[in-house]
Amino acid sequence: MMRREALAAGAVVLRGFAEPFAAELLADLDRLLVQSPWRHMTTPGGYRMSVAMTNCGPWGWVSDPTGYRYDALDPLTGHAWPAMPASFLAVATGAASAAGFEGFVPDACLVNRYEAGAKLSLHQDKDEQDHSAPIVSVSLGMPAVFLFGGRRRAEAVQRVPLAHGDVAVWGGPARLSYHGVLPLKPGQHASTGACRINLTFRRAR
Ligand code: SIN
Ligand code: FE2
Repeated sequence: MMRREALAAGAVVLRGFAEPFAAELLADLDRLLVQSPWRHMTTPGGYRMSVAMTNCGPWGWVSDPTGYRYDALDPLTGHAWPAMPASFLAVATGAASAAGFEGFVPDACLVNRYEAGAKLSLHQDKDEQDHSAPIVSVSLGMPAVFLFGGRRRAEAVQRVPLAHGDVAVWGGPARLSYHGVLPLKPGQHASTGACRINLTFRRAR
């Protein structure tokens, strides 16, 4: 039985929700990486991000020295991002429904790869046009500590351990919550080796 852990109004962790689908998600990820490989993007401030990223679906999240944006083309290849695999869509829609957000149809999936030491600083997901759709975030492989705060950076932050197959969903009153990931600890996971993979589904447009 999946365990449901409330983080805040509109925010929940569905423990193990994606575990039955993990092998299929990772196999589909391998295929889309052939088309749009991992890359370390540059922040608008000129720093190389420690998390390696790619995208699939109609819109891809991109950071470069000019800023953050959603782009229909992968700047590395000049081509459209790979299509969103059916397995990705099914897990995203299913997790959103289980969290109380019916009818979520993501048009963007940012894929993050954390190696030992990689982290994501506290931020809000606010490059999307419409904030009525939730964020659905699937954790695979190595565990990590997810930081989950409030709508203002200064608010208290919860430290939430996320393991293989866990899905965090935040929307409604929690949609603009600050969140981040602490530096990944070194280790090995049977399905991803030394890495943590995160799939973040959004409605960008
Ligand atoms: C993100 O905020 O884009 C990713 C969060 C995570 O890796 O859990
Ligand atoms: Fe985020």
